[in-house]
Amino acid sequence: MRIDILSVLPELLKSPLEHSIMKRAQDKGLLEVHLHHLRKWAVNEYGQIDDYQYGGGAGMVMMPEPLAKAIEELCAERKYDEIIYLTPDGENLNQRIANTLSLKENLLMICGHYKGIDERIREQYVTKEISIGDYVLSGGELAAAVLVDAIGRLLPGVLNDETSALFDSFQDNLLAPPVYTRPEDFRGSKVPDVLMSGDHRKIEEWRHEQSVQRTRDRRPGLLDES
Ligand code: ADE
Repeated sequence: MRIDILSVLPELLKSPLEHSIMKRAQDKGLLEVHLHHLRKWAVNEYGQIDDYQYGGGAGMVMMPEPLAKAIEELCAERKYDEIIYLTPDGENLNQRIANTLSLKENLLMICGHYKGIDERIREQYVTKEISIGDYVLSGGELAAAVLVDAIGRLLPGVLNDETSALFDSFQDNLLAPPVYTRPEDFRGSKVPDVLMSGDHRKIEEWRHEQSVQRTRDRRPGLLDES
């Protein structure tokens, strides 16, 4: 999979992509991420890409011209399955969306800043708008990093058996069960007996029950969705 990201602060995206599973995905050639600095398509030699908003009000808006030029240049090179704008008023990201996007080949992500991007870019180019939660970030970069991570770890071959995404929280609309490691007795608190029993069928049953219980307690709405 190839992901292109348009941003005025591509530096913000570098570190999350250079470590751990995202690094492994790229090293294995399963994921390619290309960062593009929007100033490359600025409207003048001062690197301008934003301007005051019509109608007045605080905050700058990202101009349509640099974004349109950048998108058109990138789209001339390849066909994107989705052009995604990260924005707090987009559809809330969930595992289903991550699963669907992980099946695509080329994604283009646009990170907004300031008051956001000119509405006409959203109307004319963007095919999907995604929010990573009901709060406002300073820009779309951290949201894009979250989205790339959520998608990248699902690509076949990125995770090994030990870290398999099949058993992640949300894959069946269930939260993950509790997990334990050594020592067996931590300051008087013991690992549940069933996990020490060696009976794999019983262990799976227990894990499933715990998942259902945890989901009922913490996120009952998820059970209605399944
Ligand atoms: N940009 C600013 N806040 C955001 C959010 N919550 N999700 C996605 N993009 C954003």
